[in-house]
Amino acid sequence: MNPLPEHLSLTPDHHLAIGGVDTVELAKEYGTPLFVYDIATVRTNIRAFKKAFEANQVDYNIAYASKAFSCLAVYEVINQEEIAVDVVSGGELYTAIQADVPAKNIHFHGNNKSKEELELALEYGVGCYIVDNFYEIELLNQVAADYDTIVTVQLRIAPGFSAHTHDFIRTGQRDSKFGFDLENGQALEAIKRVLSMDNLNLHGLHCHIGSQIFESEAFALAAEKLMCFLADIRLETDFVAKSLNLGGGFGIKYTDQDQVTSIQAHIDAVCRRTKELANTYNYPLPEIWVEPGRSIVGAAALTLYTIGSKKNIHGIRNYLAVDGGMTDNIRPALYQAKYQGLLANRAAEENQELYSIAGKCCESGDMLIWDLPLPYVETNDLLAVLSTGAYGYSMASNYNRLPRPAVVFVEEGQARLAIRRETYQDLIDLDYR
Ligand code: LLP
Repeated sequence: MNPLPEHLSLTPDHHLAIGGVDTVELAKEYGTPLFVYDIATVRTNIRAFKKAFEANQVDYNIAYASKAFSCLAVYEVINQEEIAVDVVSGGELYTAIQADVPAKNIHFHGNNKSKEELELALEYGVGCYIVDNFYEIELLNQVAADYDTIVTVQLRIAPGFSAHTHDFIRTGQRDSKFGFDLENGQALEAIKRVLSMDNLNLHGLHCHIGSQIFESEAFALAAEKLMCFLADIRLETDFVAKSLNLGGGFGIKYTDQDQVTSIQAHIDAVCRRTKELANTYNYPLPEIWVEPGRSIVGAAALTLYTIGSKKNIHGIRNYLAVDGGMTDNIRPALYQAKYQGLLANRAAEENQELYSIAGKCCESGDMLIWDLPLPYVETNDLLAVLSTGAYGYSMASNYNRLPRPAVVFVEEGQARLAIRRETYQDLIDLDYR
């Protein structure tokens, strides 16, 4: 990437360093493939959201979307930064609780929460349930009644438009498995239903319009749609929302082609539009909630791979194979996602060739980067792929029985293991014979 992001630098030996720690040393100590997170960047990203909301003088709530990357150590950082957490499964919920995230700071998402998951959440005392469908309204009310308690909910609305992004990661359009449709009356019906329930306390509305979005206008439009809807339903139901949750989806820089908008600009746009509509409708300004995942952890991490085999098809392509691939980063195969990479052990050398970076899985689609300019590469060189902190480890698999990589956090010049590398023994631990 040109220039290098702030948390990356070169050592006097021309090695790539992250958070001041030499990646060649990290690879030696922890092996490859290796995810390395710069924790100062994670903190800076969280603080950027806080600062942006504070500059707009609104009440707000920031929940880290765990699905981007969930483990005990990352929740520890989230706790230290005192923001909330969004979870989408019993597993993420359990991990957050084990990491001492206060249950009241946990927001529970999902389009098919099971009774067992809801019971677990009730036992822990989860702070907010983002209810997705009619089935869940009944189920959650029943489970809350069984626990003799009243739970706080937001209703997930499908606002009926899609933000400009890749097809598979759109979630705001009408034809979606998520949320209550705004236009066909389901959203209104759902609100009435929740208001009639004894054990549900409707706090506000939620929507999530997609992922990796650069246009602030998309977020502002989502806020506008929900505010107009809230003004309408107040006439019919007297319901006044205390919160407006706009989900996540703030885009990050993967390659130089990505024209990133600052968090400040996104939040300014959302706050401005929400305030305008609150004024227009004389509606009490709700708290504005967001659920960033990628924009907190995505750019903070890189993945280190060791180069193994090389294949040159003269006049056609130069392949380099690395010791990981779609098992630790499914995004290129699944979404044609683009990444930038550089040679971590010879980071100052001039680029000489275009190389295509292949994973080691038995799958032709297991390619990480096409046509990456690099210096002449040798077997055993170290490749760093940048901005792999979101949806890399969290979507990792054991395809071909590859052990999942280790994850290291660096902060203040120190490295520590956040997740150890899986062993072959781990791979057979669940098996019977
Ligand atoms: N809130 C809700 C309700 C969501 O569905 C998501 C992401 C987020 C927040 C966080 O979005 P973020 O800020 O991280 O963009 N696996 C895909 C991304 C799927 C995102 C699903 N929902 C990828 O690798 O690009």
